Amino acid sequence: MRSIDDLDTPAILIDAGRAEANIARAQAHADRHGLKLRPHIKTHKLPYWAKKQIAAGAVGITCQKIGEAEVMADAGLTDIFLPYNILGRAKLERLKALHGRVTLSVTTDSMDTLMGLAATFTDPGHRLPVLVECDTGMGRCGVQSAGEAVALASEIDKVRGLVFGGLMTYPGAGRAAETEAWLADAQQALAAAGLSCERISSGGTPDMWRSGEHSVVTEYRPGTYIYLDRYQVAKGVGSLDDCALTVLSTVVSHPTPIRAILDAGSKALSSDTLGLADFGELLGISGARVTSLSEEHGNVTLSGGAELRIGERVRVVPDHCCVVTNLFDEVHLIEGDKVIETLPVKARGRMG
Ligand SMILES: Cc1ncc(COP(=O)(O)O)c(C=O)c1O
Repeated sequence: MRSIDDLDTPAILIDAGRAEANIARAQAHADRHGLKLRPHIKTHKLPYWAKKQIAAGAVGITCQKIGEAEVMADAGLTDIFLPYNILGRAKLERLKALHGRVTLSVTTDSMDTLMGLAATFTDPGHRLPVLVECDTGMGRCGVQSAGEAVALASEIDKVRGLVFGGLMTYPGAGRAAETEAWLADAQQALAAAGLSCERISSGGTPDMWRSGEHSVVTEYRPGTYIYLDRYQVAKGVGSLDDCALTVLSTVVSHPTPIRAILDAGSKALSSDTLGLADFGELLGISGARVTSLSEEHGNVTLSGGAELRIGERVRVVPDHCCVVTNLFDEVHLIEGDKVIETLPVKARGRMG
């Protein structure tokens, strides 16, 4: 069996035991609180993990891109939620084909998206569930008020090939209470308008452990929880010891006593810090932080007596693991120092 030492760098390592433990912990939490779990595959982009998430008890998966959903459907995943405004003939045709082979649901936040869906999905015998996306404070997509949610839901219900599928939101981190209030209000307004709303889908790893406090949410879509990263550790979701994804890298230069250079730059770590001060930290070497990046160089600043030598191989915990996944063709699953499997990242780079 290969060991980590046999791998060329930079490379993604996934600690399989940690990822499995993260899956199990989140599923147990959801089960305890009567929530359906519908993990977002954006973090791993691998049918391998999607199947493990389903086997652990998830009701289905979430994909952001049709291309990701197609990869997952090809691999045998059967229940897919695409919480994205799908526009344009080419995408709508692909969406229709997908609806023909998996249990699919989507979202809209406008009449424009709805009209495209209405023109494409016309079979009352096989209606597509469409959820209304609500902006509960994130400031991204979504209707802006309960009234708008009701108005759009009733328009969906008038279309013969569609069915109103409920409410969906992606709340900003730390906004669990506001989200709950927004959604409860919208649910009441829907009921007053005679529209039943059985599914209310929320998500986000940062507030995952607070998801049990929701009374109206029926389904939760965490993504990053499977690997975790520095951002999630900063949010208190887990510890560095729970982080499953690291980027294996080699020290290629040590130009000054307090500065070393890794062969992992923005092409391997991405420059997405999610607001953190550094771009990553080195596992097991406290005082070693990736403080700046160029494309092929990661600049490590050493402090507190931390030491590195040229040729040394290190493991970087990135700030945002999902974007790192999208940068590599393959990941290596490890157990301790052993490489147990190498998997192609099948759903990476699916832009549409
Ligand atoms: C619509 C939607 N749902 C769920 C998620 C998963 O969020 P997280 O990775 O914080 O768990 C995301 C992340 O971007 C998202 O955009």
